[in-house]
Amino acid sequence: MPTTVLIGAQWGDEGKGKVTDHLSESADVVVRYQGGNNAGHTIVVGDERFALTLIPSGVLYPQVTPVIGNGCVIDPNVLVTEMAELDSRGIDPTRLRISGNAHLIMPYHRKLDAVLERFLGQQQIGTTKRGIGPAYMDKYSRQGIRVQDLFDPKIFRQKLDIAIKDKNKILTKVYNSLPIDAEPIAEEYLDYADSLRDYVTDTSLLLWRAQQAGKKVIFEGAQGTLLDIDHGTYPFVTSSNPTAGGAPIGSGIGPKTIDKVLGVAKAYITRVGTGPFPTELHDDVGNRMVDLGGEFGTVTGRRRRCGWLDLVALRYAVRVNGLTELAMTKLDILSHFDMLKVAVAYDSLGERFEEFPRQQRVLYNCHPVYEELPGWSTDISDVRNYGDLPKEARSYIEYVEETIGIPVTMIGVGPARDATVLRAT
Ligand code: IMP
Repeated sequence: MPTTVLIGAQWGDEGKGKVTDHLSESADVVVRYQGGNNAGHTIVVGDERFALTLIPSGVLYPQVTPVIGNGCVIDPNVLVTEMAELDSRGIDPTRLRISGNAHLIMPYHRKLDAVLERFLGQQQIGTTKRGIGPAYMDKYSRQGIRVQDLFDPKIFRQKLDIAIKDKNKILTKVYNSLPIDAEPIAEEYLDYADSLRDYVTDTSLLLWRAQQAGKKVIFEGAQGTLLDIDHGTYPFVTSSNPTAGGAPIGSGIGPKTIDKVLGVAKAYITRVGTGPFPTELHDDVGNRMVDLGGEFGTVTGRRRRCGWLDLVALRYAVRVNGLTELAMTKLDILSHFDMLKVAVAYDSLGERFEEFPRQQRVLYNCHPVYEELPGWSTDISDVRNYGDLPKEARSYIEYVEETIGIPVTMIGVGPARDATVLRAT
């Protein structure tokens, strides 16, 4: 299948990096289409661990052209640092191609992200404080500064001056914070122009040509379905569209050119930041999931909230993304539990919900209705063939497939690149 969109089917951190890495082995182009350095993809190659936040994970394969599409927001300092780090570890970053239409994250976006969170107090989103939300706010209010503006110093300074005037009023008058000076920002950012010039191109055209030539293109979603600004648990979401529909918008390809939509979900579920989480565990089982699964954020190091697999939410992800198959990661973590639970419905405000509720009030009051499934209590980390998994593990997978209506084609049984069970479709 030449064009595949890979998305997170939960609240992010599903282990998409490893799955993209697997697909990238035979890919020609790997594209990020939304978000920025709020994402964190960890890939383990032999003894080396690569934690990328902005550059597509496909960069680790020499034949891949990694692309940062127009739908992304780019912190240029992070970008050049990540490129230099890859270079120092023997990975050539010069294949990277960046859309000139992608928006820049500016220092005032990071500052506004922090003061907005402080202002929200108890209601805070728990953002990564990377300036993502404020950068998208400027994009949609048409006050954003784009990558292409770096190459026209006059326009860059004009746009920066307008933005700074506006931001400084907000920072000082609304948030009682210190103003920001434009000049050091202009100097810093115009310097990035030289570092990035060779990589900025018309990425929509690049993708069109790749598709026309029958090349294998992978779209690598960041965050996850339930963090989508439109389809997630608003307002506790990110400011972009991680769902599959975001891929054409955020890259400039036509929706009909997508052949396959692969969802990635953990065998349980996690969330960082605040917001509703029906199957969240506040007990020892949840703490064990954190410890066994190493559930701390790649970007912020925050402890992730953990819970049993939520099949109501997963069926929703199948629907809103049009998933054609699922990769299930971290099944090995469940080997440590005798008995497993999966949520098949919610009870809320006196009603039973079999479909993911649209109303925030309903979602906040959800009590999951669980199905109990037997555990397998054996180490499965060396298993590579589906038939060699314990029968309880197979039953768990097959129960999920039956409930969500799509096949589980990849199963992660450990962090290493090859710790994966593949199933034919
Ligand atoms: P923002 O994307 O920094 O604005 O954060 C908005 C929400 O999305 C917060 O709850 C973050 O914790 C969450 N979030 C953002 N990026 C990721 C990610 O890559 N994995 C998991 N959660 C994320």
